[in-house]
Formats: sequence, structure tokens, C-alpha cells
Amino acid sequence: MSDKKNPNEVPDTGHLWDGNLRELTNQPPKWWMNTLYLSGLFVVVYLILYPAIPLLNGATKGILGWTQMKRLNETVVEIEKIRAPYENKLKGMSATAILADDELSNYAVRSAKVLFGDRCAGCHGTGGSGNPGYPVLADDDWLYGGNIDAIQQSIANGRNGMMPGFGTSLNEQQLDDLAQHMLALSKGSEHAAGKELFVSQGCIGCHGMDAKGMQMMGAANLTDAIWRFTPGTLESIKYTIKYGVNSPGAEETRNAEMPAFQQQLSETDVKKLAIYVHKLGGGQ
Ligand code: HEC
Ligand code: HEC
Repeated sequence: MSDKKNPNEVPDTGHLWDGNLRELTNQPPKWWMNTLYLSGLFVVVYLILYPAIPLLNGATKGILGWTQMKRLNETVVEIEKIRAPYENKLKGMSATAILADDELSNYAVRSAKVLFGDRCAGCHGTGGSGNPGYPVLADDDWLYGGNIDAIQQSIANGRNGMMPGFGTSLNEQQLDDLAQHMLALSKGSEHAAGKELFVSQGCIGCHGMDAKGMQMMGAANLTDAIWRFTPGTLESIKYTIKYGVNSPGAEETRNAEMPAFQQQLSETDVKKLAIYVHKLGGGQ
């Protein structure tokens, strides 16, 4: 600013606007020129050090030998270094023990998120929100139990709930009565004829006297208004009773197969996923 000259002493370019705006021939400020030279220098140094000029096969390499792949690998190594102590601990601990440790279980949840998205969300929905035919994992309604061991079992060994179809042994009226009974139960009442059939047909053998289900067999709770095979309409319930679930040899049967993951995933990954599912909100 100190070298600012009196505008009247500076020659102009001859350009004149509005009668009195003259374009002067002042040099740009020093700081500006220096920045310009410095950026030129930076370009030259950069070109020498880093891969820069595209050629037919690739690009100039730069004398530092830097590549994006190398940088990526270094980053992965750094991340692995941070993870290693956690991973080693998880390896040697039971899922129950991990769950009891806040720091480790938080780590497990964070690292299982992507895994869940890749391997589970396709069936169980994002965050375990469920899909028609695939159970919600984020609620406290469990077919096989919501304690950490049961969840780990479900993931490691898979599940395959079986219910025979009753379409050959019952007539339409009886199927209707049973389905009416299911609907009534979910609303806290009952349907007399259906209730009788529920006992005499042996439904209680799997779903229990109170129809609240049996986790040992993966038999659904029929009183909670949560329907595995949505929608919970009379027709849809009737269909389940008629054709069963995973009923061998029956083409129309409902399918409910949870694949076993113990071959595809490491034991630590299965534990992580069990903790993730447990912490979705419905763990017991
Ligand atoms: C191909 C679809 C499919 C995939 C993939 C899948 N599941 Fe399942 N899962 C099911 C079905 C169907 C059931 C219910 C099985 C039954 O009714 O017997 C189930 C049941 C479960 C249960 C038991 C739920 C309960 O109420 O007791 C858990 C826990 C579970 N899955 C977790 C997972 C996790 C974690 C993954 C990812 C590693 C996963 N599932 C991937 C279809 C799938
Ligand atoms: C051999 C055991 C078994 C018997 C017997 C049985 N069920 Fe089931 N039932 C199951 C299982 C297991 C499921 C859950 C299947 C799944 O989700 O994978 C189920 C599911 C259902 C469902 C679907 C529930 C939902 O949430 O959508 C209905 C309805 C049902 N059973 C009604 C009956 C009725 C009525 C009878 C008697 C006529 C009966 N079941 C007999 C094992 C049985």
C-alpha cells in the first residue's frame, strides 16, 4: 500500500468509462505477484514429485513413487492396527461376555453394521426392520428367543421353522374358524369353534396351550398381532394354516428359511452380528 502513487501521475491505457473512470497501468501488488510465482514453482515441484502428466499408458510416475493404491494400503494397515487389539479380544470372548463390556460391544455394533447391510438387510430389511415373510429383528417378538445365545444360534446354524399344512385334514369352514380364532386372539378375545379345533388339531403342541408360541420350535406367538406373513388378514392367516410353513413336499407352503452363516462368516463376525441384533432394541 505504501507504494501507492498519486493516480494523476500514473499513465493510463487510454480507456475511459463514463467520462471520468480511467484505466491505469499500475503494477499488481507485490504479494499478488509473489503468489503467482510461488504457484508456478509449486506446479513444477509437484510435477517432479508426484504422478501428474497423463501419457498413453498411465502417467509420469513422480520421484516419490506415490500411488493412490499404496496410500490406500497404508491406510488399511493403519486401521487394522487400531482394530487388532479389539479383534483379538473378541476372538477369545463369548458373545455374552462381549455384551457385558460397553466398549467392546460398542465396537462390535459399529463393525457389524456394514456386515449386516451386506449379508442380512436383503431379507430382514435395513436395521432389521423386517420384510414380508422375513421377521423383524428390531422388536422384542422372537420366534427362537431374543437372548444373546439364541440369536447367535440363529445366525450360526440357520433356522427353519416347520409347520405342517392342514389343508388336507380340515375343510374350509374349519380353516375359517381357526383363522377367526387367530384374529380374535390377537385382539384379546377368542372364537369358540376355532378354539376347540386349536386344541383338537394339535396346534397347541407347537404353539402352546396359551397360543403364545414355543421358542424351542420357533412356533410363532399367535396372540401378539405381529404377523410373520403379512398382511394379518383372515385370508393370509387361513393360507398359512392350510399350507403350513416349510412343509415338506407342499408346493404352496410358506417358505421361511434362515440360512446358516457359520461357513460363510468367521466366528467373530457371527458374534458381532449377534450383538448388533441384540442391541437393535429387542435383546433379552
Ligand atoms: C435369505 C433370507 C435371509 C437372510 C439373508 C438372513 N435371514 Fe435371518 N431369517 C430369515 C428367515 C426366513 C427367518 C425366520 C426363520 C423361521 O421362521 O424359522 C430368519 C430368522 C432370523 C433370526 C431369528 C429371529 C427370531 O425371531 O428368533 C435371526 C436372529 C436372524 N434371522 C438374523 C439374521 C442375520 C444376523 C442375518 C445376516 C447374517 C440374517 N438373518 C440373514 C431369513 C434370512
Ligand atoms: C409342528 C409344529 C406346529 C404345529 C402343529 C402348528 N404350527 Fe403353526 N407354526 C409353527 C411354526 C414353527 C410357525 C412359524 C413359522 C416361521 O415363522 O418360520 C408357525 C406359524 C403359524 C402361523 C403364522 C403366524 C404369523 O405370525 O404369521 C399361524 C397362523 C399358525 N402357525 C397357526 C397354526 C394353527 C392354527 C395350527 C393348528 C391347526 C398350527 N399352527 C399348528 C409350528 C406349528
